Amino acid sequence: MNLNVQIGSMSLPNPFIAASGTYGYGVEWEGLSTPDEFGAIVGKGIFIEPKTGNPSPRLAETSCGLINSIGLEGPGIDNFINEIVPQMKQLDVLCIANINGDSVAEYGDLARRLDSVEEIAAVEVNVSCPNLESSGMTFGINASSVSEITKIVRSSFTRTVIVKLTPNVTDIRVQAKAALDAGADALTIANTWVGMAIDVHKRTSRIGRDFGGYSGAAIKPITLKLVYEVYKEFGCTIIGSGGIYELFDCLEYFIAGARALMLGTVNFIDPMRMAALKKELAEFLENEKLSLDELIGSYGSSV
Ligand SMILES: Cc1cc2nc3c(=O)[nH]c(=O)nc-3n(C[C@H](O)[C@H](O)[C@H](O)COP(=O)(O)O)c2cc1C
Repeated sequence: MNLNVQIGSMSLPNPFIAASGTYGYGVEWEGLSTPDEFGAIVGKGIFIEPKTGNPSPRLAETSCGLINSIGLEGPGIDNFINEIVPQMKQLDVLCIANINGDSVAEYGDLARRLDSVEEIAAVEVNVSCPNLESSGMTFGINASSVSEITKIVRSSFTRTVIVKLTPNVTDIRVQAKAALDAGADALTIANTWVGMAIDVHKRTSRIGRDFGGYSGAAIKPITLKLVYEVYKEFGCTIIGSGGIYELFDCLEYFIAGARALMLGTVNFIDPMRMAALKKELAEFLENEKLSLDELIGSYGSSV
């Protein structure tokens, strides 16, 4: 069964992508998971400079998901290119770099640096991190910042440009249009939702900040709706990301319009889940005598 999908100039052997921040740089999973079976992996978010991230605790499990406040801890672009990329290259999987800036110019600098690193097949422009004070999601809720950042990355990086949107907006089609008009090849819909978890004994947050990014099973229906809205309006290339655990989650995202899927929180529960889902999807399509293309964006079509 052919599961190949095209995202910009990048041809993925299958639509399952490890989501940024939930799979390290892939190399940490040796012996626990099989990244060579994935369509691609997205590395942890990187800035120009190394970052120490937010105060701990950084993770709190809730009944239906996970709240995180990692704050994009990372090694900086020099270490990424010199130390980490050569290790990622050994994994035999397409690598995507998740880029983050404190200014528009920083996004441009990162894209320029990565353009000469041929092992990086695509950049995912993160304008949606909920765990930073002054950049991240602040850029992502402002359509003109989304446009400016996408434009500078587009003019600095010659391969695939993906823009990762925040769901924490009134109408995501506004930010989606800004990114598409500025030259994004694809959109990741979406990053985490802003949430809160309270320690009732201490009457303070269960993570190191008041709010964090909420991911996992609970967000699937609400992120799925955003994928559908954007696909219906623009018919663009979308990577669905939010609460995918089971085959039927994947099918719902494809039917709503997603062409590929990023799986995050589920990797902490079962690092072999992505490879299993790939097999289950192939079997489903074979049994139903369907191609993946026929499924994508098929919401409302008669069966
Ligand atoms: C611990 C953790 C760290 C994350 N770090 C990043 C990151 O560095 N960059 C980014 O764009 N998204 C980050 N995300 C968001 C995920 O990539 C993903 O889009 C989101 O969690 C929704 O998918 P899920 O419900 O399958 O986890 C992170 C999520 C978690 C749970």
